[in-house]
Amino acid sequence: MNQLANDQISSGRHLSYWLYSEMMLLEFESLNADIETDVVIVGAGIAGLSVAYQLVQSGKKVVVVEDGFVGSGETGRTTAHLTNALDDRYYRLNKVFGEEKAKLIAKSHTDAIDFIEHVVQKENIKCDFTRLNGYLFLHPSDKTESINKEFEAAKNAGIDVEKLQNVPGILNEKGECVEFKNQAQFHPLKYLNGLCKAILDKGGKIYTQTHAKDINGDGIKTGDGFTIKAGYIVVATNAPVNSKYILPMKQFAYRTYVIGAKIKKDSIPMALWWDTGDHNANASIPPYHYVRIQPMNDEFDLLICGGEDHATGLADAEKIAEEQRYKLLENWARERFPMEEVIYHWSGQVMEPIDCMAYIGKNPMDKDNIFIVTGDSGNGMTHGSLAGMLISDLINGKENIYENIYDPSRMKLRGIGVFFKEFVGGLFSYLQNKSSDTIKDISELSKDEGKIFEWQGKKCGIYRDKDDYLHIVDAECTHLKCIIKWNNDEKSWDCPCHGSRFTPDGKVINGPANVDLPHHVEKLDNGF
Ligand SMILES: Cc1cc2nc3c(=O)[nH]c(=O)nc-3n(C[C@H](O)[C@H](O)[C@H](O)COP(=O)(O)OP(=O)(O)OC[C@H]3O[C@@H](n4cnc5c(N)ncnc54)[C@H](O)[C@@H]3O)c2cc1C
Ligand code: FES
Repeated sequence: MNQLANDQISSGRHLSYWLYSEMMLLEFESLNADIETDVVIVGAGIAGLSVAYQLVQSGKKVVVVEDGFVGSGETGRTTAHLTNALDDRYYRLNKVFGEEKAKLIAKSHTDAIDFIEHVVQKENIKCDFTRLNGYLFLHPSDKTESINKEFEAAKNAGIDVEKLQNVPGILNEKGECVEFKNQAQFHPLKYLNGLCKAILDKGGKIYTQTHAKDINGDGIKTGDGFTIKAGYIVVATNAPVNSKYILPMKQFAYRTYVIGAKIKKDSIPMALWWDTGDHNANASIPPYHYVRIQPMNDEFDLLICGGEDHATGLADAEKIAEEQRYKLLENWARERFPMEEVIYHWSGQVMEPIDCMAYIGKNPMDKDNIFIVTGDSGNGMTHGSLAGMLISDLINGKENIYENIYDPSRMKLRGIGVFFKEFVGGLFSYLQNKSSDTIKDISELSKDEGKIFEWQGKKCGIYRDKDDYLHIVDAECTHLKCIIKWNNDEKSWDCPCHGSRFTPDGKVINGPANVDLPHHVEKLDNGF
């Protein structure tokens, strides 16, 4: 890995196994001139690069800009299950969208897995792509009939499922499960690497460390003041940096945690596993466990287990701090898998749309040539790949059967209930937690910690580094001015309102904010 600090490489202090195992950053030159193109794409995660890949195949001139490196965002922090077993459950999708549309949704995710497989074969990408089965089993807080309901709904939606009387590969997990056949997994950064090569081979351009500061119908202006004039603009930044009000109000940001533990090679079958989620913690968006195995070396594989989600900035509402969640994951996994020591841990962010499906298409209330991909949910690998097919069809004027389902302007009445529960619950927790993070005197601040402090009549976020420098940022989020909250695990300032995140020095790392927090550094003994 190069000399950069971890929070410059990725969106937090902990790096994922994917970033360590690639041992190189996918870095290109940054933009240093004004240019013109057919399509400019903002964001080099799976969504932006899938759109770029499809568009260069269709003959369009494409430029991708990325303000970090390729895979700096959530694609570098994922667990990369490629699945049509959607985490919002088909029996819920039937209620929100109706059975016919649920069939189309199922098909769209099946198509997305096939798309990835096709690209892997066509471009000869060595990314450990593997077909395998997935198993959905009951969380103790969920009703026993959920497994049956999901089996019937998934079968009805056209998915190849079977009901089993126990869960293959898991110790101590008795009871029925739904087997989802022919799912897949891969190494996400190796896949992105392959996409980049294919895009460049077809004449596409990728610029990293190039921040899209202004995005409008003419193109973009970068943080360094260069312009890219374009006929079409696609914003694939995960959180919607070009939608201040509409899309941030239709989704909620959650943090999710991952551990990677050594497991003796071939000690359990290769598969994907998910439980149905903790309905006591959150009945509308139940946090669930997700597990897979990644081949590592001749002796060991890596068991990758995720879960313990909470609304961004609101970990304290459950009285479990961010950094304590890895231990919970480890305890859960140890009871079920013969794993050895934990050698990786990291966290990431997902955007949960109120009606479960991603927003892919024309950006609402904006110019007709501006497109967006957001609302990835826990299925962003397939949603991002689907964006590749759907947005390239929309730009090329081709019909696409999934256009209406993923239309970012849609408003589902069924989703409104979830919106109010999450919004009111979130607001309540936010107000309750506002003061727990505040200090009256700098002496209350430990090294390597951040807190809110009132200085000269203004709320500031102060991070005290290991050398006693105080990194002071304005505590009002640059999106809609909520007060930020310190995340002591990833060493970032997280906004509880819509999930924007900033480094200790105020640099924006997750939207919808697209502007840094004003920042100032002082030595601790200089008048503090
Ligand atoms: C821990 C975890 C586990 C997950 N597991 C799964 C799973 O098993 N299966 C699954 O399907 N999904 C999973 N997901 C979801 C999935 O990883 C994401 O949905 C997906 O990676 C998002 O891809 P993306 O391209 O939309 O966003 P990103 O990968 O975040 O890419 C967006 C890029 O835009 C850049 N950017 C932002 N703003 C700007 C700007 N103004 N200018 C220039 N560049 C900018 C960012 O630096 C970033 O690189 C998981 C997510 C997490 C966090
Ligand atoms: S993310 Fe909206 S106010 Fe901070």
